[in-house]
Order: sequence, then C-alpha cells, then structure tokens
Amino acid sequence: MIVLPGSASKRLAVSLSEQLGCPLAKVESKPFPDGERYVRVDSDLMGKTVIIVQNTYPDEKLVELFILQDAVREFKDTRIVTVIPYFGYARQDKVFKPGETIAARTMAKRIQSASDQVILIDIHAPTIADWFDVPCKSVSSMADIAEYLKDKEVDAILAPDKGALARAGEVAKELGVDFDHMEKTRVDGFTVSMKPKDLDVSGKRVVIVDDIIATGGTIIKATEHLKANGAKEVWAACTHGLFTNDAVPRLDAVLDRLIATDTLESESTKLSVAPSIVRALED
Ligand code: R5P
Repeated sequence: MIVLPGSASKRLAVSLSEQLGCPLAKVESKPFPDGERYVRVDSDLMGKTVIIVQNTYPDEKLVELFILQDAVREFKDTRIVTVIPYFGYARQDKVFKPGETIAARTMAKRIQSASDQVILIDIHAPTIADWFDVPCKSVSSMADIAEYLKDKEVDAILAPDKGALARAGEVAKELGVDFDHMEKTRVDGFTVSMKPKDLDVSGKRVVIVDDIIATGGTIIKATEHLKANGAKEVWAACTHGLFTNDAVPRLDAVLDRLIATDTLESESTKLSVAPSIVRALED
C-alpha cells in the first residue's frame, strides 16, 4: 500500500501515511505557464494498492485528480483507492429546473472510471455514494471531532438545523453530553427567532456541529441566538471549512472557538480525519 498526495490534500495524505505506516509516493505537480497542470509520479507503484488523496475543489484540483489517476494506471497491476476529503459539487445534488443536470453525479461517474474504490468524508448528501458503480464508502468524521473535544469541558452539542441532528448526536454520544437542534420560529412578518428545540443552554459551553461552513451565515445566526439564549461560550466545529466570503473574521467576531478538520486546509484546521479513513480502509 502507498499513499499518493494530490496538491489539494497534502497534509491529510501525510497523516494518513503515518497512521497506516505506509510510504508516501513522490509526485511532481506544477502549473504550465498557461495554467494547465503537469503531473509526474516519481515512485514505483507497480503491483501496489495506491491511495490517492485529493479534493475535487476547486475545479483545477478535479482536473489534477484525473491526471493523477491516469498516471497511476500507467504502472502495471495497480489498485486505485480514491480518497476525496472534500467532494466539490456535492451541494449540486438535485435538479430544480428543466435543463439542469445533477453535477455531483456527473463528477461521481467521471471519478469512478479510474477508481477501484472511493472513500468520501461527511458527504453532504448520502445518496451521492450510490452514484458510484465501484464500492464507495461515505465516512463520518464525527468520532475525530469528538476525540478533539474530549476533555474540553463541553456541556452540549447543537445542530444548526434538524437535518444535522444525527451528526450532533454522534458527537454528543461519544462525549456523554446533551444534544439538540436549533429551531426557527416566526415572531412577526419581519422577525424570525431561533433557539434550541428543547435544551436550556444558559451558562453552558455549547458546540455547534455541522458538515460544511461556507459563508458562515448559518453558524453566525445560530451563535447569535445561542448567546441571546444565555450560552456562556459558543464554539463551532465542522468537517469541511470552506470559508468563502471572508467567513473566518466574521465567525471569529461572534464565536469563542472555530474548529475545522484537515479535509480542507486552513488556519482553523485543528484535527485530522485520518483515523476515520484508516478505520474505513481496514473494514
Ligand atoms: C447545509 O445543508 C449545510 O449543512 C451547511 O449548514 C451549509 O452549507 C452552511 O453554509 P453557510 O456557511 O454558507 O451558511
């Protein structure tokens, strides 16, 4: 077994190779002057199971993944496991208007054509895993988030909406604390209030858990309402810290702590999802 790092996921690839106790392939990857990508694998991959770790976001990283997969196929008798820490296009998982297509499915079909197995992490819509015709596992990173939060005196876990409740429950169960989801109530024609459905958060250190933080709008709103409901401290923990539209400074202004995993690398990356990937590979 050998881990092959794509340029979008180097840090996670290193953690994965350390935890699996297997080598890291050498890859030369650079842009041509016109922006196209050059890739060369400088390790012998013949006869090996090659774990390619690469995000498919932004688009140029998706193109790099295609080239990496084919570069690996040039070596005889390889088995390719494509690990996609952050699967770009995952939020385009439905058709809303005639003439559209499901872009997430488009990506799945292309990626699988050069994979023997695919591993996704906290995929936005679980149905995406079914669009791969090769074995595909969708791995939850909630155990890694719970491990990070252990011994940090967290009182409760909150989901920003009902759809994220199962994730919050996974973390809360590991920590042995309460969990709940935020619920919106219309106060009048202009005002919507938001509060935990059943849980009293006053005086508590609460952690909002979500799969993605993009613009930060969801977390900022939930944080403001939790503080208005008396929470002592509000932290946010997400798997994928996309952080678009200058999200980090706006989140820092309201949150007491911001935590993201290494599926996307940023200053807020505080923990690795490598242990969950290792468990999925060993399954
Ligand atoms: C929604 O279904 C997701 O779980 C996230 O809550 C959402 O993508 C976060 O987006 P934003 O940070 O832009 O509010």
